[in-house]
Amino acid sequence: MDRNADAPWSKFDPEAYVSDNYRTPLPVDLLIVALMRDHFSRCFEGVPPDPLLRGVDVGAGANMYPALAMLPWCEKILLLEYAAPNVEYLRRQIASGGLDHAWDAFWGVLGEDPAYREVVPRDRLDEVVLVQRQNLFDLDGEQRWDLGTMFFVADSMSECPEEFGRGVRCFMNALDKDAPFAAAFMKGSDGYRVAGQKFPAYRVTEAEVEESLVHYSCELEIHDLHHVVREGHDGMLLALGRRNSRVSVP
Ligand SMILES: C[S@@+](CC[C@H](N)C(=O)[O-])C[C@H]1O[C@@H](n2cnc3c(N)ncnc32)[C@H](O)[C@@H]1O
Repeated sequence: MDRNADAPWSKFDPEAYVSDNYRTPLPVDLLIVALMRDHFSRCFEGVPPDPLLRGVDVGAGANMYPALAMLPWCEKILLLEYAAPNVEYLRRQIASGGLDHAWDAFWGVLGEDPAYREVVPRDRLDEVVLVQRQNLFDLDGEQRWDLGTMFFVADSMSECPEEFGRGVRCFMNALDKDAPFAAAFMKGSDGYRVAGQKFPAYRVTEAEVEESLVHYSCELEIHDLHHVVREGHDGMLLALGRRNSRVSVP
């Protein structure tokens, strides 16, 4: 069984990953972005978009849409990522003028909500976003972020069920009480290839996703998106909710 530490993360090719997954936006990703946008806007309803919060995207990889979705609400966003090539990719994206036009379609969906309309992402990314190379298992459980995302990470980093649970736990324990969150999972994935390199996944079910989150969440909704993007998985799940007030659980 491939554990997280066994996978070839230093060989992750971010440009190939973006070409395979995001350069031609799939309707399912646009739907995910719309659901996440509406969730964050609902959570902050009545609160004028005022960049005071701290956001985190755990295992950001080569995906800018979670960071874009948090932009109106945050004075700081941490993109936490382990694979060195992805860290370099993210740093290029947030540099002035560096944001790839591949992300414009996702911003288009976000911009349908008035909270996003005042924001010019290319002006704000380099002042708000920090990219840090870190192992998510080293998150210390201090519950210090006010808003968080984790997309296709806990399920797509190891074949080991214990590491799936630990990944979710580390993410949820990084969030402060009431923090809105969005997390996405590939259902029943037997792993994935990026530029010919194989990466591990845990074949998670919807029931296991729910069970892993429910202890930490309130207002939890799990959307089964009934969409398969390639062979070797059974669908995609999007979990939306808020961190409840229970203290960090090891
Ligand atoms: C399937 S990709 C998802 C990337 C991105 N979040 C997305 O939505 O497309 C899984 C990501 O998890 C990252 N990852 C794997 N193990 C990690 C760890 N221990 N700590 C932090 N990130 C990790 C990988 O480098 C990769 O970027």
